Amino acid sequence: DDHPFQINEKGHLEIGGLDTIELAEKYGTPLYVYDVSMIRENCRAFVQTFQELGVRAQVAYASKAFSSIAILQVMKQEGLSVDVVSEGELYTALQAGIPAGKIHLHGNNKSIDELALAIKNDIGCIVVDNFYEIDLLEKLLAEHNKEIDVLIRVTPGINSKTHQYIMTGNEDSKFGFNMHNGQAEKAFQQLQNHDRIRFKGLHCHIGSQIFETDRFIKAVDILFKELAEWKNQYNYTPEVLNFGGGFGIKYTNEDSPIPLNLYVEELVNSITFHIQKLNMPMPEIWIEPGRSIVGNAGITLYTVGSTKEIPGVRNYIAVDGGMTDNLRPALYQAKYHGVIANKAGLPNTKEVSVAGKCCESGDMLIWDLATPEIDHGDILAVFSTGAYGYSMANNYNRFSKAAVVFVEDEVDKLIVKRETYKDILRNDLSYE
Ligand code: LLP
Repeated sequence: DDHPFQINEKGHLEIGGLDTIELAEKYGTPLYVYDVSMIRENCRAFVQTFQELGVRAQVAYASKAFSSIAILQVMKQEGLSVDVVSEGELYTALQAGIPAGKIHLHGNNKSIDELALAIKNDIGCIVVDNFYEIDLLEKLLAEHNKEIDVLIRVTPGINSKTHQYIMTGNEDSKFGFNMHNGQAEKAFQQLQNHDRIRFKGLHCHIGSQIFETDRFIKAVDILFKELAEWKNQYNYTPEVLNFGGGFGIKYTNEDSPIPLNLYVEELVNSITFHIQKLNMPMPEIWIEPGRSIVGNAGITLYTVGSTKEIPGVRNYIAVDGGMTDNLRPALYQAKYHGVIANKAGLPNTKEVSVAGKCCESGDMLIWDLATPEIDHGDILAVFSTGAYGYSMANNYNRFSKAAVVFVEDEVDKLIVKRETYKDILRNDLSYE
């Protein structure tokens, strides 16, 4: 199937049992709409698989994929922890009522303010990325007379098959302590037996939108190679191992993702193999999925405006959003699938390319999409926009950010208001 959503008797696309055309009329476009029951299913696939395997685990939602009060409240309801990478994400998580002990802070250049906010609130874990950060952390912990749990982020030197910009585990990466040149071990030596830093274990994240489980298993193998040495040399065994996120989802029919429980099962299997071999107790396993929790649960609705036919070349249709609400096609050449939501039951007779409305030739959302005949005012639904859509939205050309609606049990609820032009001018000051 092209997408997981229903079509109603009017031939309109539905989400969560509601007519997308009615949602577009009620809230305007562009509009992000999430099926909350799908988000919950994704959360539960991860959490329950660990439970069924009898493995102590923390599933932390990577809130960079989509952070807002409402989505984090859903994560709280589902019992997930939350991974944040900035003071803004940390502040949002605290405001959403996520227990501080379930918040993990990431970042390759954490500021003093970020670290201080984390320390003052006694968050669950700081994932330390570099030596400068260790220095800052030591100073701040002493200043605030606090202790904190820490993981060391290591870079296993794996090239994951994904776009270069979302590759993070390779040797030449801005993230983490490299393993092959002794940096990781040096950080370990510095933090082991620290009086204020409670060193819990290792973290690694090999990249994003990855389908091949062998990449994750490779990361496990590399981590355990190091851990075997640390066990020999220092008699060390980790309490926690965090394997990050990156589990791939389906955007178009070119993608063939595997069910979420399989990622967990394969990860746990390979960890079990190593701990048995090394005669170690099973550590707590943490993961940080973002995209695989919210990605496929979100769609974006747009209104079709102008069209341009270049005979023998291409049919353009332009919509009322674009790279301001979905930067991924322009930034990563990411591919998306869509349908004309008010004609979802009709056969496709045309091929169009969907342009945004920014003053930028690269502002194209979809190339070569099969559709029925197009009329001005049609509603286009683009699928799998739930991750890194709203969170990477921007105000280029002074477009206001679109609204976000949650749908659950056939009830729709506005959870992020549409930005107004007043909002856009909020920080502008006069110079006359
Ligand atoms: N943990 C760490 C340390 C990460 O760096 C990331 C993503 C995640 C977890 C979550 O990865 P996910 O499960 O969502 O794949 N803006 C890009 C993705 C950047 C991902 C950065 N790190 C995109 O739109 O594809």
